[in-house]
Amino acid sequence: MRPKACIFDLDGVIVDTAKYHYLAWKRLAKELGFEFTEKDNERLKGVSRMASLEILLSVGGIQIDDASVKEQLADKKNTWYVEYISQMTKDEILPGVEDFLKMLKENGIKIAIGSASKNTMTILNRIGIKDMFDAIIDGTKITKAKPDPEVFLKAAQELNVRPEECCVFEDAVAGIEAAKAAGMKVIGVGDPSILKGADKVIQSFVGQGIELIEF
Ligand code: G6P
Ligand code: MG
Repeated sequence: MRPKACIFDLDGVIVDTAKYHYLAWKRLAKELGFEFTEKDNERLKGVSRMASLEILLSVGGIQIDDASVKEQLADKKNTWYVEYISQMTKDEILPGVEDFLKMLKENGIKIAIGSASKNTMTILNRIGIKDMFDAIIDGTKITKAKPDPEVFLKAAQELNVRPEECCVFEDAVAGIEAAKAAGMKVIGVGDPSILKGADKVIQSFVGQGIELIEF
């Protein structure tokens, strides 16, 4: 079976923005008086902005009950993050991704973005591949974060294909769960020992052909 559409997560699949998220969260942690390590940052992959803040605060042993204070902290982190991603260039597209997207289009496969990030458009504009996608569903269009399947189901709807005709590419466990909950095939991008729920796992897109999405 060959899917009619492929849906791509953005952060960690198309671009490595985890380093910018990390720099911004680390800066916030420092301001709050504690260190935030790269290992702690692993826990934020695929997690929404407010859920990420909760994890950060728990690492620092800080309890904040006032929702507006939490909003302010998340806004502050996001302002720094936007400063970093506003400098991104086309060179930051992960290896093999652009060729793989072109190959899918040549084979008549529709392609979409399915990301939790509210900064998706800023990133896609910076790296210059926005127009390649037939649909873009991002954090501004959804109400439920992964592992809820909403983001992927919306993408399938906009592409006019059934969920079972879609294949998702994901680097986060929550994203793999979301794709499975949507009834889609899922290919993990990263470490197979972490991305256990995926149908297949790849390390990178370099040299990947159409057979990758044949199940
Ligand atoms: C992706 C990233 C997360 C990030 C989330 C929200 O899922 O993997 O690290 O927290 O998007 O991103 P945003 O740009 O809206 O803060
Ligand atoms: Mg991701």
